[in-house]
Order: sequence, then structure tokens, then C-alpha cells
Amino acid sequence: MEKTFAIIKPNAFADGNSGKILSRIYEEGFTVVGLKKLYLSQVEAEGFYYVHKDRPFFGELTEFMSSGPCIVMVLEAENAILKWRDLMGATNPAEAAEGTLRREFGASLGENATHGSDAPETASFEIGYFFSGLELL
Ligand code: CMP
Repeated sequence: MEKTFAIIKPNAFADGNSGKILSRIYEEGFTVVGLKKLYLSQVEAEGFYYVHKDRPFFGELTEFMSSGPCIVMVLEAENAILKWRDLMGATNPAEAAEGTLRREFGASLGENATHGSDAPETASFEIGYFFSGLELL
């Protein structure tokens, strides 16, 4: 079994789509190991997305991620990292396949409804950024 880190981003939360996204997560067979609602500060969002700090969209990204509440989660399944990325679809909702979460709930490249770890090392950093071991029992 593998764990991955996931976010229901502020646009999806504000649009009232958190329940639908969680339903899809359960339908696809993930176990939700950790889940909480957070309202990130921009500094907290900057720490989370530090790998993108030199990208031109860093300010826009961290401003959006701190614009309202989001839901952070740890999901477990076989091949959870790839499985969650498949369920989310392409980063840009306009390029995401029919039936994927970003296609259904994403508004734009920035406001793309969900986030997921892209590799085991990033999953480990991202899970640890938001959850303590005691929250994942
Ligand atoms: P996410 O999977 O959360 O990882 C980094 C995020 O940066 C990505 O989803 C997009 O929402 C965002 N992003 C990537 N490229 C751009 C871009 N060119 N302009 C704005 N946001 C971007």
C-alpha cells in the first residue's frame, strides 16, 4: 500500500464540490487516512509550494491557495500516487480527460480544483508538512 497527499483547493471548496470529490475518492477505493480543513496563510502556501518559488506564477499560486479554506488529505491505496493523479487528470482542466476531477471541477490552470503529490519523495514531504504521525493512526 502507498500513501499520497491531496488537496481540495479553495475554488472547489468554495463551490461546494468537496462532498462530490470525496465521493469519487471513496468510489475509486482509496482509504482516507487523514483529512482536515485549513485556511492557509500565504506564508504557509509558499512553504508548501517552495519548489515552484522561482516560477513566474508563484505569487498567483500562493495567493490563490491562501484565498479561502481548503481540505488537505492523506489517501492510501495500491499505487496511490499514480491512481490519484489519474483521477485528478491533467494539470490544466482544459486538457484533462472527460470524467476526471479537474475536468469536472477545475476552472483554470491555477484554479484546478485539486492537488496531488507527483512522486514518493514529494508525498513524504507534503504529508509531513500538514500531518503529524498521530493524526494518521
Ligand atoms: P498543482 O498540482 O497544485 O501544482 C502546482 C500548481 O501550480 C499547479 O497545480 C497549478 O495549479 C499551478 N500552475 C502550474 N502552472 C501554472 C501557470 N502557468 N500559471 C498559473 N498556475 C500554474
